[in-house]
Amino acid sequence: MTVTVNLPSRSLVLLSGAPGSGKSTFAKRHFLWTQIVSSDRCRAMVCDDEENMAVHHQTYSLLQHIVRLRLSLGRFTVIDSTALERKHRIHYVSLAKDYHFHPVAILFDVPYELCVQQNERRDRRVPLEAIRHYHAMLQETKRSIWEEGFAEIFVLNAEQIRTAQISFRDKEPKERDNKRRN
Ligand code: UTP
Ligand code: MG
Repeated sequence: MTVTVNLPSRSLVLLSGAPGSGKSTFAKRHFLWTQIVSSDRCRAMVCDDEENMAVHHQTYSLLQHIVRLRLSLGRFTVIDSTALERKHRIHYVSLAKDYHFHPVAILFDVPYELCVQQNERRDRRVPLEAIRHYHAMLQETKRSIWEEGFAEIFVLNAEQIRTAQISFRDKEPKERDNKRRN
């Protein structure tokens, strides 16, 4: 069944799922590139290497700074990162609430085997151990996310990720399709 993710434009959307589950692909398909704040892109911006996990602090400091600036300007924002740690999700929920934004989570509920397959199809390959680790965290996230303060939570399986529609409840279609470019 096709899922329609119907959002107010004053939303902070958190994509959450294991590496290879298709978060960045989904984000690119549905949102303007300027609306997507990606941890990989922030990591590359601070050190030229989106795989360098030693710059965690600087990466998330930049990501949060951009998110805060966007929210302060009232801009619809999507965070593209694994977001499988409860304390990070709670922090984003509180940030959204500070700016009177609607905190929304989209969980990528994809089987481990599919994450591995999709990971193998791309240039940037994440070690299998990391996929296994994050995939286990996803199971925990599916249980605990309901008490973290999100206004809406969408748990999408692989088929729903492929077919989901995004719409904005407070915008005319013409307005939201304007200026779409990547
Ligand atoms: P992504 O690179 O979108 O995964 O997809 P991700 O969740 O953002 O991964 P991390 O967390 O940044 O590591 C992984 C691969 O799967 C393919 C994409 O083309 C990409 O090569 N893919 C994704 C599909 O083949 N089908 C899909 O429906 C989604
Ligand atoms: Mg990605």
